[in-house]
Amino acid sequence: ELSPIDKAKFVAAKRAAEFVEDGMRVGLGTGSTAAWLVRCLGEKVREEGLKFRGVPTSTRTAELAREVGIEVITLEEARWLDLTIDGADEFDGELSLIKGGGGALLQEKIVATASDQMVVIADAAKEVGTLGAFPLPVEVIPFGWTASQALIEEALVSMDVMGRQITLRMDGDAAYRTDEGNFILDLHLTRIGNPRQLALILNQIPGVVENGLFIDICDQVVIGYGDGRVEVRD
Ligand code: A5P
Repeated sequence: ELSPIDKAKFVAAKRAAEFVEDGMRVGLGTGSTAAWLVRCLGEKVREEGLKFRGVPTSTRTAELAREVGIEVITLEEARWLDLTIDGADEFDGELSLIKGGGGALLQEKIVATASDQMVVIADAAKEVGTLGAFPLPVEVIPFGWTASQALIEEALVSMDVMGRQITLRMDGDAAYRTDEGNFILDLHLTRIGNPRQLALILNQIPGVVENGLFIDICDQVVIGYGDGRVEVRD
């Protein structure tokens, strides 16, 4: 028996799995909700003979996808994708997102923007009026990361963003490393008044590889509820 939160993630994933059709090239997201999707798709491959190829957004997702019988290819092989389905940490009324809680934001953004469509699957608790309660992940090059952090702080001051605490994401005693070997700074901002501007400013800072704000990328959110209901927002 699933907990209400897992049930919500599962029903959203199951609905979104129906969007995948024979012959498609599909970006596969990262995180616990995306893991439900990968399992649902694996079941469709094994039991309904669904034929599609998946491009994973992390080594974790690649392993799971292979395990459940999905044909995995790289983004270079796929070149372009019909659809990407991924989770999110927050989404707002404009379908802007915060992603990267799971650390895979860089690959996730590359894959999502190489797709005709991006569908987000999320439990209802991920919906917010204003982004920012969830710490915003920013992927930085390890070289001189403290200098990049200082420039990020300066940018936040100039933008008058609330709450400016920045923490280096850890993995036990060592800095967390992304699949590309980079670090993640988590920006504890509380409230992001102008996500579009912040996303642009962050990516201009030397050492910043990518930030977790997804603006004008997501086309649809499939929202799952603990009682099994599903709602599609676009
Ligand atoms: C991974 O890097 C993130 O962008 C995930 O999409 C996000 O953390 C959602 O994860 P859950 O589905 O586990 O909440």
